[in-house]
Amino acid sequence: MRQVLYQHLSADGRELRQGLGPDGAYFAARAADGEVVGTATVRRQRPPWPESELGCFRVRGMAVAPGRRLAGIGSALLRACLAHVAERGAGVVWVNARVAALGLYLRAGFQPVSLPWADPVTGPHVSARLVVAGPGQPPGIA
Ligand SMILES: CC(C)(COP(=O)(O)OP(=O)(O)OC[C@H]1O[C@@H](n2cnc3c(N)ncnc32)[C@H](O)[C@@H]1OP(=O)(O)O)[C@@H](O)C(=O)NCCC(=O)NCCS
Repeated sequence: MRQVLYQHLSADGRELRQGLGPDGAYFAARAADGEVVGTATVRRQRPPWPESELGCFRVRGMAVAPGRRLAGIGSALLRACLAHVAERGAGVVWVNARVAALGLYLRAGFQPVSLPWADPVTGPHVSARLVVAGPGQPPGIA
C-alpha cells in the first residue's frame, strides 16, 4: 500500500501503526490470497479546531490498491473506523480528506469544515467531521 498513498513513508507502514494509542485501530482489507488491498486507521486525537467535550477520533491512512477501487472497499474500511468509535461511545470523527476522495466521506455523512487547503506533500485537502452516536444513542447529537 506504500505505493498507493505513502510514497514518502517507509515500506513496512510502521508510521501508519505508530501512535494509535490504546483506543486506536489499524484496519486492513485483504484479498482472498491474503494480500492487503486497503488500509485505514482511527485514533483518539483532537482536531485543530474547537470541538465539544465528546471524544474526538481521527481517520487517517485511507488507501485502496488502484486495481481494487470503486468496489466499496474504502467505504467498508471507513465503516469499520466509525464502528470502532461507536463501540467506544459517542464521538466526533474527523479527517483531512484529499479533495478527490471527499465524496467517500460525504457519502458516509461527513460535513466539510474547511475550505480546500494544500498539503505540501499530498496536495489539496478538505477537513471534514461526523458525529458518531454511541450504542443505544440517537445519531447526530452534539
Ligand atoms: C479514496 C479511496 C480510498 C476510495 O477507495 P474505494 O475502495 O475506491 O472507495 P469506494 O469504492 O467505497 O467508494 C468510491 C469513492 O472513492 C472516491 N474516488 C473515486 N475516484 C477517486 C480517485 N481517483 N481518487 C480518490 N478518491 C476517489 C469517490 O469519493 C468515490 O465515491 P463517490 O463515487 O460517491 O464519489 C481510493 O480511491 C484511494 O485509495 N485513493 C488514493 C488514496 C487517497 O486518496 N486516499 C484518501 C485520503 S483522505
